[in-house]
Amino acid sequence: MAELFDSYKSNYGEAVAGSIRFSGLGHDFFLIAKANLLRRLVVERGLRQGGVRALDIGCGVGSLHPYLEGAFESLDGCDVSEQSILRAGQDNPCVTYRAYTTPRLPYGDGAFDLAFASCVVHHVPPASWLDFFREMRRVVRAGGVACIIEHNPYNPLTRLAVLRCPFDQDAVLLNAAKARSLFQQTGFQDIRSEHFLLLPSARSFAKKLERLLAPLPLGAQYACSAHV
Ligand SMILES: C[S@@+](CC[C@H](N)C(=O)[O-])C[C@H]1O[C@@H](n2cnc3c(N)ncnc32)[C@H](O)[C@@H]1O
Repeated sequence: MAELFDSYKSNYGEAVAGSIRFSGLGHDFFLIAKANLLRRLVVERGLRQGGVRALDIGCGVGSLHPYLEGAFESLDGCDVSEQSILRAGQDNPCVTYRAYTTPRLPYGDGAFDLAFASCVVHHVPPASWLDFFREMRRVVRAGGVACIIEHNPYNPLTRLAVLRCPFDQDAVLLNAAKARSLFQQTGFQDIRSEHFLLLPSARSFAKKLERLLAPLPLGAQYACSAHV
């Protein structure tokens, strides 16, 4: 997996853009929606606003990080792809990055208030999903929050994008029920999931409608989060 994403260190954004071109939307539309969701999560989950130590697991080249500027007190990013981490560091000097090779995350117990992983779990072999969640839990302090953002396998346009994405050939998609079950099996509490990226518009009416329909598995992606 590390080698695969090492090879996309210079053209990751272009590869994603190519796979979603049929939608008429740019990569930034999706990144802004994810960043807004994470900002909202901080508030809804009662994390200290402005004082959150956050970790992005599987951050890749750090595409999401410019959109998270000012959202947290500190932001760390880590990935198994060393080349992606080098590129992320060049592009985002305010974020602290680490590459790692072992299943264990390179951080101490309870080091973060929030850990999130965006479009990562479907690249982790299913046999390692529980270990991935256990590690996410280990690095979050008691009362902190973990969140994954994943493709919704029930959305046909998401399926098409995955089919067209050159680095998604081995992806194993998981639905929100499976994500909730993984959070539950690894000891998390207050597990919630919501679907988003349903409508191709950032207007407030579209966002309100999307929030109303979030329990249904309609949106292109979903977020599942829980407390430690
Ligand atoms: C589709 S990219 C997503 C990158 C970034 N999170 C984003 O949303 O733009 C998937 C990333 O997960 C990383 N990855 C795969 N398995 C991983 C693991 N076990 N631990 C950490 N990162 C992993 C890959 O190296 C790659 O950078």
